Amino acid sequence: MAYLKQQRPEKVTVPSLRESKARGERLVCLTAYDYPTARVVDEAGTDLILVGDSLGNVVLGYDSTVPVTLDEMVMHTRAVRRGVERALLVADMPYGSYHTGADDAVRAALRLIKEGGAEAVKLEGGKARAPIVKRLVEEEIPVMGHIGLTPQSLHRLGGYRLQGKTVDAVRALLNDARALEEAGAFALVLEVVPREIAKLVTESVKIPTIGIGAGDGCDAQVLVIHDLLGLSFSRTRPRFVRQYMDLRELMTDAINRYAEDVRSGAYPTEAESYPLPAETAAELEAAAIGDVDAATEAEPESGRT
Ligand code: KIV
Repeated sequence: MAYLKQQRPEKVTVPSLRESKARGERLVCLTAYDYPTARVVDEAGTDLILVGDSLGNVVLGYDSTVPVTLDEMVMHTRAVRRGVERALLVADMPYGSYHTGADDAVRAALRLIKEGGAEAVKLEGGKARAPIVKRLVEEEIPVMGHIGLTPQSLHRLGGYRLQGKTVDAVRALLNDARALEEAGAFALVLEVVPREIAKLVTESVKIPTIGIGAGDGCDAQVLVIHDLLGLSFSRTRPRFVRQYMDLRELMTDAINRYAEDVRSGAYPTEAESYPLPAETAAELEAAAIGDVDAATEAEPESGRT
């Protein structure tokens, strides 16, 4: 059960995603930000692993994704890369790394690909970002789009709210999706939009849609791994989050038991300590070096305690 990858060994690639959509397969996507999590997520058979800029909220302790830097994204992507074999590895382009023009976007994306080892990048925004997506694709950089609720637009949106609620907003979403597909995006994240609208968008494009808070009509689902595991410290839990375990409680329990053992002397035991070789013990005894207190007193200038 744990190592699902053994049953689905074939590497997930950009072209294989489109084929999966055509076959009607539902794809599984999760975030990861470090090596051990990446190993577990990949070995469990997850199809896409996203080094999301949600890194800022769930790992770095920022209160939004806005402060996340390109250096931070590169460092975490490198760590995840070392743990991933099968899944397609996608890295988020952080706020500010593609907003100043296509050349800057190419430079930033190349860092995530060359230094980070990502196979694709994701950026937020619809039609307005299509020229940048097109340029990245021309430079051989696969791009995943992201529309609906785009957390990097926090200050413009004034909060994390349901998108696509009006007829105009639905038209805009459909136009955004088509513009990104035409620009060459290979997949599209739909975040926090009504399920009917996500289904409509999914049916209107050939590239796979990856839903988060977008209902069951998408081709794939993504969750932030910390939300799924119960290790998120965010003040509110969005309605789309399904928490599969309470890792915070399990960790606290383990730490409490360790602390209790240290304080009571139950840890470490003899079996958890390194024994002195018998011949060294005998030599120490012969040389009368067993009395550490006496040695310390005799050589106070050595600085050893
Ligand atoms: O940053 C992130 O983790 C994301 C996903 C939630 C889609 O963008």
